[in-house]
Amino acid sequence: MTKEPAMDLNLIGENLSASYQQIAARYRSDDEIEVTSEHHRHLESILLNLSGSFGRRIQVLDVGCGSGRYFHCLKNVDRLIGVDVSEAMLKTAERPVRHEHISARRIELRWENVYFSSFPSESFDLIYSLGMFGNGCPVTVELLNRLYNWLAPGGHLFFNVVDVATLSPSRRARRRIRNVLYPFLPRGVRRTFDRRTAVPFCGLGKRELDRIMRASQFTHFSISSLACQSPLWQGRHLECAAAKPVLQR
Ligand SMILES: C[S@@+](CC[C@H](N)C(=O)[O-])C[C@H]1O[C@@H](n2cnc3c(N)ncnc32)[C@H](O)[C@@H]1O
Repeated sequence: MTKEPAMDLNLIGENLSASYQQIAARYRSDDEIEVTSEHHRHLESILLNLSGSFGRRIQVLDVGCGSGRYFHCLKNVDRLIGVDVSEAMLKTAERPVRHEHISARRIELRWENVYFSSFPSESFDLIYSLGMFGNGCPVTVELLNRLYNWLAPGGHLFFNVVDVATLSPSRRARRRIRNVLYPFLPRGVRRTFDRRTAVPFCGLGKRELDRIMRASQFTHFSISSLACQSPLWQGRHLECAAAKPVLQR
C-alpha cells in the first residue's frame, strides 16, 4: 500500500492562489521567453504527437493550466478545458502566448482546485498537467484514479513532476525524515505544520512515482527523468505518460 501524503489540499490551494496573485503578470510575460527554450520545444512535440494521434477532433483537459502556456501546442482539439486554482493566472490565460496558433474550437477556463474538481466519466481523450505537481501539489493515487475515470477508453494522460534529484542532498535527507514522521504526528500538530509550510515541496523520485502509479488504476505507463533546459528554471523533471486501455480492466 502506498501512503498518501496527509495534507490540507484546500489550504495549500488557497496559499498557492495567493502567491500566484503576485506573480501572474510576470509569469505570462515569461511565457514569451519560455516558448523559445529547448524544454518548451520538447513538451510541444509530445503534446502535438499525443493530440494528433487520435486522427479526429478531441476533448482535452489542462490541469493547472496557468497562463495557458501550452494551449498552442495542441492540434485537432474540439474543446479544451483549463482548470486552475489561481484566478489571476486564469485571467492571463484569456490571452495566452502564441494565441494566434491555437486551434482549439472552444476553450473553457475553470477556477477550481483540481483535487476537488468533478467531471463526468470518460469526458476527455487527453489530460495533461505541466509544471503543477511538485510545489504544493502531490501526485496522489486518489487524484490519479479520478483522472483515469475522466479519461475515455483509449485516452492519454501526460504530466510532469519535480524530480527530487533537483534538491541538494541535505534537503533530500530532511524531506525523507519529514515524510516518515509526518503521518504519526497528532492532527493538531500536522495542522500547525501545514500552516507554517504554506506550499510544501511534493517532488518525487522515480521509484516513488512508479509506486504511486502502480497503486492507481493506470496499468500502462512509462516514467522518464530529464534535465529541464530552460532559461527560467534549472532542475529535473520526471515525465509520466499513461494510457487508459480501450478494453478496461
Ligand atoms: C508553475 S504553474 C504552471 C502553469 C502551466 N501549466 C505552465 O506549465 O506554464 C502551476 C500552476 O498550477 C496551478 N495549481 C497549483 N495547484 C493547483 C490545484 N490544486 N488545482 C488547480 N491548479 C493548481 C497554479 O495556480 C499555477 O497556475
